Amino acid sequence: MPLSDFITALDELATQALAAFQATADKSALETARVEFLGAKNGRLKLTQQRMTAVDPADRPAAGQKLNQVKSTIQAAFEAASQRLESAALVQHRDPQFDPTLPGIVPKRGHLHPITQTIAELTDIMGRLGFTVADGPEIEDEWHNFDALNIPLDHPARDPLDNFYLATAGRTAGDGPLLLRSQTSTVQIRVMERQPPPVRIIALGRVYRPDQVDETHYPMFHQMEGLLIDQGITMADLKSVLRLFASSYLGTAVHIRFRPSFFPFTEPSVEVDMHWQDRWIEMGGAGMVDPRVLEAVGYDPEQVTGFAFGLGIERLCGRRHGITDIRNFHYNDVRFLHQF
Ligand code: DAH
Repeated sequence: MPLSDFITALDELATQALAAFQATADKSALETARVEFLGAKNGRLKLTQQRMTAVDPADRPAAGQKLNQVKSTIQAAFEAASQRLESAALVQHRDPQFDPTLPGIVPKRGHLHPITQTIAELTDIMGRLGFTVADGPEIEDEWHNFDALNIPLDHPARDPLDNFYLATAGRTAGDGPLLLRSQTSTVQIRVMERQPPPVRIIALGRVYRPDQVDETHYPMFHQMEGLLIDQGITMADLKSVLRLFASSYLGTAVHIRFRPSFFPFTEPSVEVDMHWQDRWIEMGGAGMVDPRVLEAVGYDPEQVTGFAFGLGIERLCGRRHGITDIRNFHYNDVRFLHQF
């Protein structure tokens, strides 16, 4: 058989196969066409291939090449048809009730808790004043919560009934008792123990006291502690920082008032009030860091001085938003929370 006849036969076969595969409307028709053209025993491609023995041996390489081309053309046509039927099947399986033009159900979006938002904002304001955030554990030892802060053994703040001491089981002998920290002042000690002066940090976080729950008391609340230690720091610096902080937070020029007070870890100590919307509002405590605290962490009180302050975050957040009952922060009632 001349080569040209063989080639013509293959071309015809390809044309017919392509037409057949394109015309298939379902899977069984496709299978019938596959067997007809690509069947391993009596498929027409196979039969044509067998006729290659009749081609002149000198022309066989060319014939083989053509055969391979046609074979992959037919194979590709089969696969295309198979995919076409596959996606048609998917479309058919779609829910006939489904109307993609209807408006969707908008999922309810949550947001950060007001206290978390306030912490972020306070961090931002104090960051602009050069204070970086320091962290400390909520489970503390007595050294960091009391001793290093110059709070003596007989001080009422150490009363076991005024603190959440942890059960002692499981601790190795020799360790002192542990408690949930009652103030963020613990972080002052932890920071000064691990770095030399100067220090300029804030610590924001939870503190715990076994208080009776009412509008203004909850056994867990949040404080922002501030600590600045350097050479030549005075109470004027403390007042400036607190005034700038309060003005940034409340948005208008706020006045700061110091009232004499006492804290074991500051000398002198003050209560800080801010004047806002014609009222004096208590912010927290502050003072110049007591030399005994500096000594406890190995600083030289002749070389450096500094100030510290501790403010209640619930109070700051509550004043800004008019929240008068601290319990609302913790009921987790979205009708309340979604307003902030
Ligand atoms: N730790 C005090 C408290 O929880 C608040 C406080 C007062 C912090 C004076 C200070 C400070 O850093 O200087 O009641």
